[in-house]
Amino acid sequence: MGLLAAGRPALAERPAEPAGRPEVVAQSKWQFSGDEGATWSPRPPTVPAGKVGTIQARATFQVPDPGAAEFWQLTHALPPRMDMTFSLNDKEVPVPLPGMYYKTIPAIPARLLRKGPNVLMARIRIDNRPPASDRQKVMPDFTFPSPSDPPALAGQKLRFQTGPILGAFGEDYFSATCRTNIPVPVRLTVTPAQRATPPRPASSRAIELSSPAGLIHRFRVPRDSSLRVFEYQLKATFGRDSAATAAHSVALPILGPKGSRQDELRFVIMGDSRSNTGDWATVAQAVLNEKPALVVFTGDMNDHGTDDWEWDEHYLGPEPARELLATVPFYPVKGNHEENAPLYNQLFYTPSPDGTAENWAQEIGPVLLIGINGQWSARWPQTRTWIENTLSESTAKFIFFMSHYPAWSSAGNGKLDAKTGLPRHWAYLTARTDIVPMLVRHKATALVAAHEHHYERSDLPGGLMQIISAGAGAPLSGKSRDAAKQNPYSKVFIKTLNYCLLEVKGNRCTLQAKTPAGTVIETLTWQARKLH
Ligand SMILES: [Fe+2]
Repeated sequence: MGLLAAGRPALAERPAEPAGRPEVVAQSKWQFSGDEGATWSPRPPTVPAGKVGTIQARATFQVPDPGAAEFWQLTHALPPRMDMTFSLNDKEVPVPLPGMYYKTIPAIPARLLRKGPNVLMARIRIDNRPPASDRQKVMPDFTFPSPSDPPALAGQKLRFQTGPILGAFGEDYFSATCRTNIPVPVRLTVTPAQRATPPRPASSRAIELSSPAGLIHRFRVPRDSSLRVFEYQLKATFGRDSAATAAHSVALPILGPKGSRQDELRFVIMGDSRSNTGDWATVAQAVLNEKPALVVFTGDMNDHGTDDWEWDEHYLGPEPARELLATVPFYPVKGNHEENAPLYNQLFYTPSPDGTAENWAQEIGPVLLIGINGQWSARWPQTRTWIENTLSESTAKFIFFMSHYPAWSSAGNGKLDAKTGLPRHWAYLTARTDIVPMLVRHKATALVAAHEHHYERSDLPGGLMQIISAGAGAPLSGKSRDAAKQNPYSKVFIKTLNYCLLEVKGNRCTLQAKTPAGTVIETLTWQARKLH
């Protein structure tokens, strides 16, 4: 992973579809109908202001050999963020995860195609009424944007599309996930590289696990505490095709029964990597160079979490980000830009029984980490009780609480309501009224958040520190005009790319807020909590 002369890491080569696959481009561009197929035109119809309309689009393919591939992908060339469904020869085209938007739909079974002419139809629902939040808004007529390219089908060859992503780990497991472009089983092989002392021959064998056939593969790998340094690799075969990831080296921190190393942990917290891929690559490279034992990411990974392609092109696009997520256990916190995308819960493995919990907590050595989905939820009272119980039960020396949302901020999202003087944002208000008092009562070390795009440290009443570390690639933001009112506790504010490196040794925890160029913004230290 060398750096370019300009000091920026090379952006990843997109994992290309292998050469030699059959491709069929539609015979003509899309044709459109606004009257349920009575008339067709290359010009898309207009949905009048205030109306809900359905547009149909049609294209024809000549497919010489549907059996040339068992699975095909459709690149439809229509604006992807629309409410639309596709059919091929009157059969619905399945999408991998409803709720995601696709530019390219993979894994279409060959049985939906036939030799000769094939008809592709798209059905697009356009709601051109004023939004529910402003029913008086004057809407313009909506003319569907005319796509410049015809749709195309391509036979697929097996490849690993996303990941692997290393997830949560514990004394008796670690986790890894990945995505393939066609539904196959995946085999995971773990090769231990370092033995416990004295050696345990029984655990020196490689571990092999297989996932069921599918696009998403989630592994919870049993381990004993001697399995600390290892390599893992994922492989898949389909007919004559085979694919494999690189063999990734991992070193998990020592957990478990009290020992000298249990009092040490080195980890990174960062957030907000949307939407500048180059900046995200720079930050990911800097974090990779820190060799942390784990990374907590406090949300807003992509601009649009429901845009399926952004995960591969942006968040897991740059080589340093791919390497970081493949080799360092990754603990995610959900932000608003994740858009509650179903793929989020599939790609990440949090410390919870099935790895999908969005509110999670884990004691790792001397540190309790708590991550929550801080967005509005009808279940917030239950979450609040769970946080209180989790804090009460912990005897960890240090507690770091991660949410996408801070309680106080000097920047734009921390605006106050003119009447109440309180934050307009539900999550900010809730952090202030519910979360911070609990953290103060239990002597938590810090609340670490994102959502604003800068670094800001605030010393809150009661002795709690709040850190906004949201500089992993989102467009940077400065202070509001009302900053002093919004956040009277602000001590340091800097508009820069940043991340936080934390290091616990014995009873002392040090945080270095850093820019990816290596400048230390500030250094903070804490002593272990005194429980009584
Ligand atoms: Fe956000």
